Amino acid sequence: MEPIIALEDVSFTYKINEDSSVPVLKNVSFSIYPGEYVAIIGHNGSGKSTLSKHFNGLLTPSSGDVWVQGHNTKDESKKLDIRKTVGMVFQHPDNQIVATIVEEDVAFGLENIGVPRAEMKHRIDEALEVVKMSEFRKRPPHHLSGGQKQRVAIAGVLAMQPDCIVFDESTSMLDTFGRNEVLQAIRKMNKMGMTIITVTHRMSEAAEAGRIIVVEDGKIVMDGNPREIFKHKQVLMDLQLDVPAVSQMADIVHSQIPMFSKELIQEDELINEVNRVSKARSGEMV
Ligand SMILES: Nc1ncnc2c1ncn2[C@@H]1O[C@H](COP(=O)(O)OP(=O)(O)O)[C@@H](O)[C@H]1O
Ligand SMILES: [Mg+2]
Repeated sequence: MEPIIALEDVSFTYKINEDSSVPVLKNVSFSIYPGEYVAIIGHNGSGKSTLSKHFNGLLTPSSGDVWVQGHNTKDESKKLDIRKTVGMVFQHPDNQIVATIVEEDVAFGLENIGVPRAEMKHRIDEALEVVKMSEFRKRPPHHLSGGQKQRVAIAGVLAMQPDCIVFDESTSMLDTFGRNEVLQAIRKMNKMGMTIITVTHRMSEAAEAGRIIVVEDGKIVMDGNPREIFKHKQVLMDLQLDVPAVSQMADIVHSQIPMFSKELIQEDELINEVNRVSKARSGEMV
């Protein structure tokens, strides 16, 4: 399978002025394939946002190349194609909402790329449906909750029908309820076949992905499935990262009850394990 995004030996330095610059990305290479759900984790300042902005050409490498569906992000003539292929959702929903009515906001990007009226209506309906915001279509966005606003921002990106959406800490400003609403929409989009890349500092969110990439000082230090990654608790702690709360709990229970698995990362696994072990133990007692 061809990758949707491929990074080849990418380095990136912010040029502040003539004599000062900040090197951030250092010889980064990896590929992301269609339909993947990838979480990028790393502590503050490790280079996650800089990396994310390379996925759709918002930034281009100082050296090395980024390919999006085979197009080099440095190729000016492909810029629009690349932006259509990879959409981005940022941290603050307020900065991404431009119109005074929800449906107009979702329409904004479509108008810019000249989508015909009839097609536009269809795409807006569909996008609002996916994020469960259809009933709010005539409302002013500034009256919505954070989670609802972020879902409107997602609908705006979704209406552009990208193959991949990048979420840069898109749930970090939301309360638990809003975060769950957005996560549900993300899961649904991935099930529909969309490639998802999510930057997060919440390990429980990263645990939902199929693959985790760990960034430290502009380099990739781990890349694997969540169960593998979260086994390296000490390495993560040294990187000022954590393991999901579920893994911490499982570890504690395992130390008391050895048959209780310590390799759990998701809530439903924890619940299943509690049921399994309590059944086994009640069997032992009779
Ligand atoms: N526009 C910029 N100009 C100069 N330095 C920047 C800029 N944006 C980010 N940086 C620096 O690049 C490094 C990585 O930042 P960033 O990619 O935002 O990391 P993260 O998203 O992991 O917190 C930090 O040291 C940050 O200060
Ligand atoms: Mg960031």
